[in-house]
Formats: sequence, structure tokens, C-alpha cells
Amino acid sequence: MAISRSPVAVYPGSFDPIHLGHVDIIARATQIFPRVVVGILKNPGKGALFSPEERVELVGALYRHNPAVEVRAFSGLLVNFLKELDATIVIRGMRAVSDFEYEFQMALMNRRLYPAAETVFLTPKEEYTYLSSRTVKEVVALGGDVTGLVPEPVRRVMESRYRVTTHPPTR
Ligand code: PNS
Repeated sequence: MAISRSPVAVYPGSFDPIHLGHVDIIARATQIFPRVVVGILKNPGKGALFSPEERVELVGALYRHNPAVEVRAFSGLLVNFLKELDATIVIRGMRAVSDFEYEFQMALMNRRLYPAAETVFLTPKEEYTYLSSRTVKEVVALGGDVTGLVPEPVRRVMESRYRVTTHPPTR
């Protein structure tokens, strides 16, 4: 029996912070699906730079004028978030073979939990295949320049955040 599919695709992730590889995947997803919901996990674990509210704000600002993209936070199981949205499609970016094992496990686990869930893997532009939120944070924390790797508003907030964190006022 065919499963009826909603045209809503969910692109879940930690997005701490969003970088241009993510932006590229969102653009590709909107070429395929009429509505893309960026689902920001509320608890990305230790070492998070931005709170869930800040990440929703930063990503939301980038898509404020794009009606095809909605930005929401979620907690708990991704499949419950899919059901809440009446969605069955999960978008994930696949940068390299090293991503494969984790992504494969996650896709199969999600489908076991929710048989209608189907994961669609998209590949980013080659120049973004080495990008990750973790490396972007590390570079900024150590005073490096991430221009052209993250959206400009994100770069500005990151730089000011690290300046405050690493050089607190002494008085
Ligand atoms: O950007 P990330 O950190 O690679 O995204 C991972 C994310 C948020 C997609 C994944 O951790 C997730 O879906 N978490 C929700 C919890 C869940 O559903 N776990 C079961 C699937 S293995």
C-alpha cells in the first residue's frame, strides 16, 4: 500500500551555529519541496555556543522573507516532531563518506520508529564539504576569520560573543 506523503520536509540539526553548508542544503531542499521546516534541536549537548532561542532567532532572521522556509525548535524524538508537522521527509546533508555511518544509523532508526519517515540526503556545494559547526566555532574562538563560511550576521554575533567570553572586562 502506498504511503501518502506530505510535501513538508524537515531539515533537523543542532545548527550551533548555522554555516553556509547548511544554507546550501536548505536552498537545495526548497528546489525539491514546497515547504522546508528547519528543526533546531533544543539540547545540542555540552559546548553549545548559542541557546535554542538564539539559534532560532539567528536562523529565522536569514529566512524571514522566504515563505518556503520555517524555523522551529524541537526537543525529544525527531519522529515526534515529524508527526506534529504531519511530515514524513527528513533532509540531511551528506558531506563525505565519514558522515555515512552515523547518517545511515539515524535514518534507519527513524524509519523503525516511524515507518513513513524517509530520509533524503543532499550533498552541498564542494567548497562547503569540509565545513562543520564545530570547526567554525573553534576558528572564531581562536581569533580566526570565518568570512564566507557562515552567514554574515552569524559571523558578527559569533565574533562579539567570543570577544566577550575570552576577554572579559577586568574592572
Ligand atoms: O546537526 P546534528 O547535531 O548532526 O543533528 C543531529 C540531530 C538533531 C538530527 C539528531 O541528533 C536528532 O534527530 N536528535 C533528536 C533525537 C532523536 O530523534 N534520536 C533518534 C534518532 S537516532
